[in-house]
Amino acid sequence: MGARINGIELEWRDRGTGEAILMIHGFPLNSAMWGSQLTRLSPDWRVVAPDLRGFGASDVGDEPVFSMDLMARDLAALLDHLGIERAVICGLSMGGYVAFEFFRQFRHRVRALVLCDTRAGTDSPDTQRARGALAEQVVAENTIAPLVETLLPKLIGVRTSRRNPGVVALVKAMMYEARPDSVARALQGMAARADSEPLLRSIDVPALILVGSDDVITNRGQAEMMARGIRGARIEVVAGAGHVPPVEQPEAFNQILLQFLEGLPHESLPASASFSY
Ligand code: MLT
Repeated sequence: MGARINGIELEWRDRGTGEAILMIHGFPLNSAMWGSQLTRLSPDWRVVAPDLRGFGASDVGDEPVFSMDLMARDLAALLDHLGIERAVICGLSMGGYVAFEFFRQFRHRVRALVLCDTRAGTDSPDTQRARGALAEQVVAENTIAPLVETLLPKLIGVRTSRRNPGVVALVKAMMYEARPDSVARALQGMAARADSEPLLRSIDVPALILVGSDDVITNRGQAEMMARGIRGARIEVVAGAGHVPPVEQPEAFNQILLQFLEGLPHESLPASASFSY
C-alpha cells in the first residue's frame, strides 16, 4: 500500500486487525524482513511494516540526510494516515534508533516498545568517520557493493550462515534493493543520531529487548544495559541468530514477541469510545 506521507510517496505492508504493531526495519533492509511476523501476528494484531524513506518501494525525497527524527516523523504521519492513535513500536537496529526517537517525540502514541538488536548510545568518532567514508564511496561508485561485502557477513549469524544459505541469499537480495543515495543518507543520519541512553529512565511503557546470541553488530552487554535502564524491561536472547533474528530464527522470535504482546495490560478505552447513559 502507498500514499503521500510527510511529503514523500511512502509504501508499507498492512495486515490483520486489532491493536496495531508498527515494525521498523533495519539498515539497509526493507519491510520484507518482517514477512514471517506479518503472517504469524496478523490473526490477532494489525501489523504495519513501512519501508522507511529511500528503502524498499518508498521514495527517497529531497532531504539530504535521513535523520532518525525525520524518519520518526514519517512514521507518526503514517499512523495518522491510517487512523492509528497508539501502537506497539518495534524496531530492529536502525529501526530501534528510530523507535527511540519516536518515543522521544510521540511518547503518548507508544503502547509498548520492542527493541531488537539495537543500542541506545551514539557512534564513536571512529564509527562516525567510517560511516562518512562509506557514504561517499557508495555514492561515488554508484553501487552498494562495498557495503554488502563488509556488512552481510556481520548481519547474519555464523550458525545461520553455515546452516541456512537461503537466509543469506534473501538478506543479500534485500540489501541490493537499497539505492546508493539512500544508503548514504541513512549512514549520515545514523552517525548524527541523538544519545538515547538518558532516555532509558523515562521509558514508562512495557518494553521487550531482544538480541541474537550470535549478533556481532550489537551484543548482549548493550542489550543488558538497555534492560537495566528501562524499568521493568524484559530481555530475551534468541539462540542461534545473528543481527536479524526475525529472519534467521522466525519461530523463536515470533514466540517471544507474541508472549510479550499477549501479556500487555489491556488498553483503556479512549474517551471517545466510553459509554454514556
Ligand atoms: C542496522 O542493522 O540497522 C545497522 O547495523 C545499524 C547500524 O549500522 O548501526
